[in-house]
Amino acid sequence: MQIPNHLAIIMDGNGRWAKKRQLPRIAGHRAGVENVRVIVKRCAELEIEALTLFAFSSENWRRPGKEVSLLMDLFSVALEQEIDRLHGNGVRLQVIGDPAAFPSKLQDKIFKAETLTENNDALTLTIAANYGGRWDLVRAFQKLAQNIKDGSLEPEAITEEAVSEQLCLSQLPEPDLFIRSGGEQRISNYLLWQLAYTELYFTDCLWPDFDVEAFDQALASYNRRQRRFGKTGEQIEQENAYGESSQA
Ligand code: IPE
Ligand code: IPE
Ligand code: MG
Repeated sequence: MQIPNHLAIIMDGNGRWAKKRQLPRIAGHRAGVENVRVIVKRCAELEIEALTLFAFSSENWRRPGKEVSLLMDLFSVALEQEIDRLHGNGVRLQVIGDPAAFPSKLQDKIFKAETLTENNDALTLTIAANYGGRWDLVRAFQKLAQNIKDGSLEPEAITEEAVSEQLCLSQLPEPDLFIRSGGEQRISNYLLWQLAYTELYFTDCLWPDFDVEAFDQALASYNRRQRRFGKTGEQIEQENAYGESSQA
């Protein structure tokens, strides 16, 4: 079985999960956090190198203020409750996105959690919070433009690698597999650049219901894919027969 090095997930469907049970939306988000624990554990068991979870998009500020502030509280409580266990299991936690808009206490907790776990080398768990793919790209372009202005970079030196290096996940391999729960088939401004050649998997399963069995089904689907990176199927079969890399 082929295990993805890097898995990126959009955890969608918490609100509908709660609505089905006539519960407030926040109950769905709480159940969603419980499920994060289940999926992180499974990823660690499978020795997946990196798991990146979309927790709050730059567009989610458009939600009712009450839901946004409850989400901030939930993030803060979850960080506090989980960080020791994550650290104990060798998980490196990082948060990508613009933290500036978060309450300062939450910013402090994020910083402490990142610092505590920065030398861990089991799973790299990245939480995308106030993250947007376009924000990530604009930030990268601003840095490159600044380097040109300083005279430390020539315009011709803006290569794909140079752009990648400025993006949030520059130190990780690009995601091999993307999963979106909750039935929608869209990217919702997630990792726009990094998903260029990622295998996409969409499921109707709502995030709190996305259990180990559903997760393993996604992995089984990934294992049935042939990643061609622009080549023909015959080329890939030949390369596999000779044990060459399919990405070269
Ligand atoms: C995803 O679940 C969690 C966040 C965006 C914070 P939703 O809250 O989007 O759930 P649905 O899509 O309304 O069911
Ligand atoms: C995407 O979910 C963002 C997260 C899961 C954090 P949304 O529920 O906000 O996406 P749209 O708005 O339906 O595309
Ligand atoms: Mg949603």
